[in-house]
Amino acid sequence: MKHGKILIADDEQAITAGLSAILSDEGYQVDVATDGQRALEQLAADSYGVVLADLKMPKLDGLALLKELQGREIPTECIIITGQATIDSAVAAMREGAYDYIEKPLNAEKLNRLKALIPKALEKFAVQQKNRELASKLEGLTHYGELTGQSEAMRELYKLIDAVAPSTASVLILGESGTGKELVATAIHKKSERAKGPFFALNCAALPKEILENELFGHEKGAFTGSTNEKPGAFEMASGGTIFLDEVAEMSPDIQVKLLRALETRMVRRLGGKKEIQVDIRIVAATNKDLQKAIAEGELREDLYYRLAVVELDLPPLRERLGDIQLLAEEFLTRFAQQNGKKVTGFEDSALEFILTHNWPGNVRELKNAVESAVIMARGSKITAQDIIPRRLRGGGELSSSVTIQVGTSMADARRQLLLRTFASTGGDAVRSAKLLGIAEPDLRAELASLLGAGGSRDGGGGRDGSNGAAPGGTSVGGPPSGGPAPDEEESLGSPQAGTVRSRSAAAKPPAAKTKASKKR
Ligand SMILES: Nc1ncnc2c1ncn2[C@@H]1O[C@H](COP(=O)(O)OP(=O)(O)OP(=O)(O)O)[C@@H](O)[C@H]1O
Ligand SMILES: [Mg+2]
Repeated sequence: MKHGKILIADDEQAITAGLSAILSDEGYQVDVATDGQRALEQLAADSYGVVLADLKMPKLDGLALLKELQGREIPTECIIITGQATIDSAVAAMREGAYDYIEKPLNAEKLNRLKALIPKALEKFAVQQKNRELASKLEGLTHYGELTGQSEAMRELYKLIDAVAPSTASVLILGESGTGKELVATAIHKKSERAKGPFFALNCAALPKEILENELFGHEKGAFTGSTNEKPGAFEMASGGTIFLDEVAEMSPDIQVKLLRALETRMVRRLGGKKEIQVDIRIVAATNKDLQKAIAEGELREDLYYRLAVVELDLPPLRERLGDIQLLAEEFLTRFAQQNGKKVTGFEDSALEFILTHNWPGNVRELKNAVESAVIMARGSKITAQDIIPRRLRGGGELSSSVTIQVGTSMADARRQLLLRTFASTGGDAVRSAKLLGIAEPDLRAELASLLGAGGSRDGGGGRDGSNGAAPGGTSVGGPPSGGPAPDEEESLGSPQAGTVRSRSAAAKPPAAKTKASKKR
């Protein structure tokens, strides 16, 4: 028997019987579904490499079936069977991702074409199946949804997302700008049952108070001057799904009251409306603000904080997860090289050295922008230090010339910091670095090579790597100019506290005051 299972979805008995016989003779394992709905159920329950779907079927037509398969991420290759009158729809199905289509009547010529198409479609399915298996092996190790990261902190985060996603508990995501808060919110949604429902993102800082209120709760006709139509709010529209409230600490006090009530009662009332509307919503919120300060200063209601922070996830800044920097940089390089049609295959050692030792006050966003800009600038097959170091930091001397080593740092860590920072400050000049450090150049190169080769294990176990040199002035490659790192970024060098991802119960106290760099780029 040939490898490959095929489902024939058609309500015409003559076609299903004929095709079944022919394809079984060819050696395939063949099943039949007599309408679109049944086909969907069979495809969800079992694995089929190919589905031959009639465009016109009871309950669910071919195009709708294809969309359902994609929406539910059920893997299979879809070949559409179409009559003359519906060729336009078949072409539309191709645009939607169908493998191909075949026209009725299924005469000898068409059947031969089908026989030739099926092995190709099955081959595509097999290749994609392999990729899916590989991706699921990596899931939780180096990647998770759209998140990349293999550090202990990120793996811990993946586990927390897995644990928290299925519940309806509100989640509060804390972290500096560009640490991936929105990606985490999306991952929580996608890993939950709510993935089938909508994901609604609202930025509380970007929207004026009235508009935010209207977006969240909607309004009735005539609620205010000019409101000629009724409009449901996010709570209603995203019912069954997730609302992501970004920069939640910026919300005005009266909206905070309304939000608190909605969270407590799971009921909302539109502006100008009397009716209470029941909603089934999960709230994920994010902020890069110091929330204890916001509560103390009366900007954020404490009772709302407890409602939002049933589970709290704290994303560590990039400089505290050195093991992720190289992985992210290489992934961004591959992506942007492909997007820009450039044959850039890697980083020169000195460029990588800069990447690993730069402070990245804008976190992953800044690294991403820097790599994109470097790929565009690169003239050779490797990205050089010149390509990646922002112009105003070039020339060696301008890079940070001090290393702060806290009491309690191990000798090995202190040595590593000094070595990496010196190397970075010379713009990747091994000869000059060795001279400054008073060690032999081959020894320096050997140590650098071992540090560079250490990849993912670097931020595991031994706590902070500490080589998070703050380059004065920060960087603004490909992004808006920055006015230099916040004072606490300099201080974070050698800070004894490793980045944490933690979950807390609502009964816990507000988070301890934390110094956070919160520049938006
Ligand atoms: N772990 C990660 N893997 C891959 N890309 C990431 C990761 N973290 C962040 N990014 C990318 O960095 C950029 C910023 O991420 P995101 O918008 O999620 O950050 P944020 O914490 O919400 O930032 P802000 O506080 O400024 O709103 C995006 O382009 C995102 O795709
Ligand atoms: Mg964000």
